[in-house]
Amino acid sequence: MLHAKLSHQDNAGVHPAGTYPASLDALFGQQAAEAAWREISSWPDYSPTPLLELPELATEAGIGRLWYKDESQRFSLRSFKALGGAYAVLRLLQDIVADRTGKRPDLETFRSGACAELIADTVISCATDGNHGRSVAWGCQQCGCRCVIYIHRDVSAYREQAMAAFGAEVVRIDGNYDDSVRLADEDAKRYGRIIVSDTSYPGYMDIPRDVMHGYSVMLREAVQQLAGEIPTHVFIQGGVGGLAASVCAYFWQTWGAQRPRFIVVEPEQANCLQQSARAGEAVVVHGDLETLMAGLACGEVSALAWPILEAGADDFMTLGEAAVAPAMRLLHDREPSIEAGESAVAGIAAALIASADPALAQRLQLDSRSRVFVIGTEGATDPEVYQELVGT
Ligand SMILES: Cc1ncc(COP(=O)(O)O)c(C=O)c1O
Repeated sequence: MLHAKLSHQDNAGVHPAGTYPASLDALFGQQAAEAAWREISSWPDYSPTPLLELPELATEAGIGRLWYKDESQRFSLRSFKALGGAYAVLRLLQDIVADRTGKRPDLETFRSGACAELIADTVISCATDGNHGRSVAWGCQQCGCRCVIYIHRDVSAYREQAMAAFGAEVVRIDGNYDDSVRLADEDAKRYGRIIVSDTSYPGYMDIPRDVMHGYSVMLREAVQQLAGEIPTHVFIQGGVGGLAASVCAYFWQTWGAQRPRFIVVEPEQANCLQQSARAGEAVVVHGDLETLMAGLACGEVSALAWPILEAGADDFMTLGEAAVAPAMRLLHDREPSIEAGESAVAGIAAALIASADPALAQRLQLDSRSRVFVIGTEGATDPEVYQELVGT
């Protein structure tokens, strides 16, 4: 069905199955996830994204069930990232207004313009390769806050325009992603801007923690949609690891010792999570990080994510590039037809390829009784690239 190289690494540091360790609560906790749910589910355009069951693909792969949480239409931004950056922007602005007035306004109040003067001197900024920046720009536009987004030389013109359409000032630099992060940080210090990043490092944890809790809204929806079924395996794609950590933590908290096996999937050239598992500590991957899966092209693990994944992820895999376009076409051509972008397919492609490989399937305990959950994290976030790869 699909063919590509998969490399597998057991996680030697994995915590024995049991309840979610209390020591991880400060990184990702149930109360903060509840707060994100209350906030985001009250937004005017909110509706849950579908959880699709794909029985035909499951049968072909020799597994029992296959669920695909389809984020391609999330808030018209076409990726799950809509939940993270925009939520962190709102929380940050609520804190600023609360400091000045003692009241925390809701999104509607910001949208009405009632807080305009109170945030007139606030400028939010970040570096992005696309989806996170779009979410930050969207959040800023709704709240009426100035926003400056840094992109690197390889970010497509379409993605740049999508952020500008939300009113962000977009600064394109000549360097790579890491250079854009550095410049966004330097300029933020120079001009007094606040960085809203989806990755964290020591000393910068609070905002990325809000981002991760924003993602959990999608997981709460999934648990409800699963209606009592508990998957045996989750294949989840990793960039800086924020998404994977949020999935791992939320499902571990929800299902305790019955939690699924967590398999993190990364591009071969950008496997900072797998390399960290091998090293037994967070390590940086250098090089050009080149991959079609633009949202996963990260060389550095988020400091918040790593302790969760170190304790909770069972396996770390990489997926060869050869699987990406065929997996997008496969999802497009079947019934129901699914719009899946380049970074969306890593989890499902790894699940299908691993199931068809007897040695790997045995290692991962994948068989006809397995119930596999994956997330299609984006739709056609760049329609030109999508068209080129899917051929529609
Ligand atoms: C579509 C998509 N999927 C997955 C990811 C990975 O998320 P994280 O960087 O939190 O690991 C990203 C990150 O930008 C993304 O855009």
